[in-house]
Amino acid sequence: MRLIITNSYEQMGFEAANIVAGQIYLKPDSVLGLATGSTPVSMYERLVAVHRTVGLDFSEVTTFNLDEYIGMGSDNPQSYHYFMQDKFFRHINIKPENVHLPDGMAEDMEAEGERYEKLIAAKGGIDLQVLGIGQNAHIGFNEPDVKFAATTHKVELDEETIMANSRFFNHADEVPRYAISMGIKTIMMAGHVILLANGRNKAKAVYKALCGDVTPEAPASILQLHRDVVVIVDREAAEMLPSEIRGVTIARKG
Ligand code: GLP
Repeated sequence: MRLIITNSYEQMGFEAANIVAGQIYLKPDSVLGLATGSTPVSMYERLVAVHRTVGLDFSEVTTFNLDEYIGMGSDNPQSYHYFMQDKFFRHINIKPENVHLPDGMAEDMEAEGERYEKLIAAKGGIDLQVLGIGQNAHIGFNEPDVKFAATTHKVELDEETIMANSRFFNHADEVPRYAISMGIKTIMMAGHVILLANGRNKAKAVYKALCGDVTPEAPASILQLHRDVVVIVDREAAEMLPSEIRGVTIARKG
C-alpha cells in the first residue's frame, strides 16, 4: 500500500485524477471501476477539466460502477446512475454503451449479479478500481460482516450507512434499505486500486482499513492483502494513523 496525504479535499481529487489519467494514457481502452458518494466528486471534476483542457480521451474507456440502490431507476435523481451522468459521464466523451452500473430495477438480483460479473470478465477485468469508504469501513456497499468471497450481490444496508446517506435525501425513511453491489472478490480482482477518504468522520475507518486486523468487521481492511493499492486521504482523514505510517508517506502541498 502506498499512502498520499494531501492538505485538502481538492488536492485529494487532483492526485486521484492524475492516477486515473495516467492509467488512460498508458492504456486508452482501460476498464475503470468507479465509485459514487461525495468523496470522488473532486476527482471527477478534475478529470473533466483534464478532458476539456488537454483532451484526455475517454472514447475507448469502459466503466463499471460499484453499486446501485435497489428500486431506483436511472432517471431517479437519487440513483447512482443519475449521479454518474450528472457528475461525470455527460461531461466527457465516453460512449454510452461502455458505461455499466448494476441495474437496481432488475427483477432477479442474483441473475443481475451474475450478468454484471460476466460483463466485467468479458471486458478483461477491471484495470483500476476507485473506492471511497464508509464510516463503518464499508467499500462499495459491502457492509461489516461481509463475506470476502462474494461477487456482485444484493446487500442490506447498515443503519449507520442509511443515516450517513440520508443527507442526500429529504428524510432517512426515503433511503433504500437494499442495494446491489460488487462484492469484495470483484474489487480484489482489480489490477490497481485507489482508496479515497476525506474528513475527520472517515479517520476511524481509514485507521481500520490500513492498520487494523484484516476482518469482515471492517470490509476495507481486506485491501491490506491487495498487491497494488494507493490510499489518498486528506489530513483530517489521516488523523488517527500512527506517525510511523505517516512518516513514510508522500505528503503533498496544496
Ligand atoms: C456510499 C457508497 C460507497 C461510498 C461511501 C462513502 O454508501 N456505496 O461507495 O464510498 O458510501 O460515501 P461518501 O463519499 O459520500 O462519504
